[in-house]
Amino acid sequence: MERVHGKWIKEMENFTLRKSGIEAFGDIPWGTHFCQFYETKEDLIDILVPYFAAGLGNNEFCIWVTSQPLDTEEAWVALKEAVPDLEQYVEKGQIEILPYTDWYLLGGKFDSDRVLHLWGEKEKRALAQGFEGLRASGNTIWLERSFWKSFVDYEAKINELIGEHRMIALCTYSLAKCTSNDVVEVIRNHQSTLVRKGKSWFPVGKLREAERLATIGETAALVGHDLRNPLQAIVGSLYLVKRSLNSIFSPENLKQKYSLEELLQTIEKQVDYMNKIVSDLEDYARPPIPQLVETSLSQLINDTLSAITVPEKVKVSIEIEQGFPRLMVDPLMMRRVLANLVTNALQAMPEGGRLTIRASKNEDAALISVEDTGAGIPEENLCKMFQPLFTTKSKGQGLGLPACKQLVEAHGGSIKFESKVGRGSTFTVKIPLKRANNLEK
Ligand SMILES: Nc1ncnc2c1ncn2[C@@H]1O[C@H](COP(=O)(O)OP(=O)(O)OP(=O)(O)O)[C@@H](O)[C@H]1O
Ligand SMILES: [Mg+2]
Repeated sequence: MERVHGKWIKEMENFTLRKSGIEAFGDIPWGTHFCQFYETKEDLIDILVPYFAAGLGNNEFCIWVTSQPLDTEEAWVALKEAVPDLEQYVEKGQIEILPYTDWYLLGGKFDSDRVLHLWGEKEKRALAQGFEGLRASGNTIWLERSFWKSFVDYEAKINELIGEHRMIALCTYSLAKCTSNDVVEVIRNHQSTLVRKGKSWFPVGKLREAERLATIGETAALVGHDLRNPLQAIVGSLYLVKRSLNSIFSPENLKQKYSLEELLQTIEKQVDYMNKIVSDLEDYARPPIPQLVETSLSQLINDTLSAITVPEKVKVSIEIEQGFPRLMVDPLMMRRVLANLVTNALQAMPEGGRLTIRASKNEDAALISVEDTGAGIPEENLCKMFQPLFTTKSKGQGLGLPACKQLVEAHGGSIKFESKVGRGSTFTVKIPLKRANNLEK
């Protein structure tokens, strides 16, 4: 046990929690958005230097957007003191320190959509370059009153979106420039706020959502990891038992053999289900790395459907657009995505209906949708679909869709859905088209 848990803790450190570098926070998960109220240049150095030093040590891509009273040059000098081998990180392209004019005010004015887009692009690039995510900080002292309202909206949007990204953001606000109203707005738009009392920094407000997600991640990694080995042992033993059945039974006691085979089939089905749970837990806990292979979608669909029992009351149609290309995907991962979506669709049609799997492409992406004519999704649940552990089923885990999202995003893709209560739902996976341009056979 000791050994297994030691390994688990290491896995958790690698995959779920990140060292914040800030004593008051300790380890934090991706998706943390917090802020600091500062008074002096030293306050900024106090927090931002260890924050970025930890990010560099964590193999994260770091962007530090500076403003007075700590300009870009001073930031480099302060960081260099804490990170003697800073040059190596610079050579690797792991850190950028730039003034606010080159980030928030590109083009001369603040445009929240453009800045949000820029963060997203930086995160994508960071991941593509093999960094584990993006660690950012921006100073807001340049904010004129005229930009304040749109900046507050921008912060609210970041707060809403960041949970879905491998991004950590620390915004710094000059206490001297904020009215008491501003302070309230800033606190409200961040998961936690750092304030200084004497020489020490204290967090105001807990990283509640972040903590919740981290706990789920920890549980997921623990359960997933610890169940994987015994499950594999069961699968292996089942195979051996099935093989030896033939040699044990003679033609006289065939009936017993058949009933034993039936029992084994039941065990196998349940083990398959447990395997799904373990894989979902593992995928949720750590971002998967796809092994891209040129893959035929119709083959994928056939493999997926052959492993699922489709009730007779459900009619299945598969509509793959002519000229649909072979995909560069990880076939096992995509099978898991399809299996989760198809299973959800079937579970939404207990009285039967139609399951349609469609595939088409546009200029740069393949679109694969799984459509059902089932119950649909009530409005109040729409925003919870990809939340881990959200389920409306007595036997559900609520991990199918979060795992699908992880798997699809690991391919650089995205997943969306549309639904009408009483009419049905359509989940559409978008996978960017790369290299593989051969046509589907
Ligand atoms: N096609 C669908 N039609 C209607 N509701 C759906 C559909 N797909 C998902 N849902 C809703 O979303 C919830 C979350 O789905 P998700 O696949 O993540 O978990 P689950 O199916 O409940 O459990 P499991 O972990 O076994 O997949 C479901 O419980 C269900 O309420
Ligand atoms: Mg499901």
